[in-house]
Amino acid sequence: MKNERSPAGPSTLLTILFLFLAVGCTDNQMNQDQAVIAKQSFGQTPEGVSVDLYTMTNANGLEVRAITYGGIIVSVRVPDAAGQLEDVVLGYDSLNGYLEQNPYFGAIIGRYGNRIDEGRFAIDGETYQLATNNGSNHLHGGVKGFDKVVWDATPVDTKNGVSLVFTYTSPDGEEGYPGTLQARVTYTLTNDDDLMFDYEATTDRETPVNLTQHTYFNLAGDGEGDILGHELMINADAFTPVDETLIPLGEIRPVENTPFDFRQPMPIGSRIGDDSKQLRRGPGYDHNFVLNRNEAGADSLVLAARVTEPTSGRVMEVYTTEPGLQFYSGNFLDGSIAGKNGVVYEYRTGFCLETQHYPDSPNQPNFPSTILRPGERYFTRTVYSFSVEGG
Ligand code: GLA
Repeated sequence: MKNERSPAGPSTLLTILFLFLAVGCTDNQMNQDQAVIAKQSFGQTPEGVSVDLYTMTNANGLEVRAITYGGIIVSVRVPDAAGQLEDVVLGYDSLNGYLEQNPYFGAIIGRYGNRIDEGRFAIDGETYQLATNNGSNHLHGGVKGFDKVVWDATPVDTKNGVSLVFTYTSPDGEEGYPGTLQARVTYTLTNDDDLMFDYEATTDRETPVNLTQHTYFNLAGDGEGDILGHELMINADAFTPVDETLIPLGEIRPVENTPFDFRQPMPIGSRIGDDSKQLRRGPGYDHNFVLNRNEAGADSLVLAARVTEPTSGRVMEVYTTEPGLQFYSGNFLDGSIAGKNGVVYEYRTGFCLETQHYPDSPNQPNFPSTILRPGERYFTRTVYSFSVEGG
């Protein structure tokens, strides 16, 4: 993140020259040194609800496109070391793809990102049964999670970029969750090449909340093969090992001397085939990392991960206020999906870095609590920060 960096201001003379040259330009051309946001239609759901597509472009030409269905990020165009812009996320060209079969490409995940054992938990002695949609477990909000609802969206200009504010009211009992939840997720694209997510929620009854974002990245470019050559650093001394159904065992296990040690940058593929019970369960990486937050308070951002893609020089850093990070290496992609431009998404051609509280927290007394109570305000922030190296 480059918060300190402020956009270079052109000298007065240059400004006058620019204004002179700009006479007769269209609005868009006039705005090229500022971030802009534009809206267009992206079709309709089978129920006849209109879905909009918003295109956010920053002063450096980075572009993020997101739709109101699931808050799905459909493309992220960022430069490589030579300045070549390319789309670095997986997805579909049209709404139908997302409606028919979506392994959470690009989507907002809620109310609870990741798994809850048997979809069951108790709060204050009362037991709740959620929808189960992953074997006998609850995954990513259930059968119709926040990734499959149409959100309201409002574009907002900010000092150093543009924002898109998504809001959704999740009714009491939705997917089995107690209480009405007012959710608000703000995407901000800054002129420092940061894509920031602010997650907020309030409730009228105690309920678990664990909101995240499920964009799949391939920093070489969407469709440019597998992601095993990406070099990954995860700022975590420990992870939460899982059982056969990917529910945490409850243990916080050191990464030292395991294939889960990403404290020094390592190619994703360098140990993914190791003979490890945990990797066999993934199969591959599909685990929650316990981030090193040291003294950082729950409201401060820490560096969670850094990914570099050697052939393009693209770099993505992840900062978050969350205690955990799910690293998923695209193990369930199997070539059955044809996405954007007809690209077939083969095994491990995208990865996700989902900032979160730990999976199954409502059933794990030693994990940080995910229960939101009336009168409290849920707030978490995550930043994906783009840059380049080499070139
Ligand atoms: C998450 C889960 C994975 C898988 C993907 C979507 O990352 O942890 O197990 O469900 O979402 O396929």
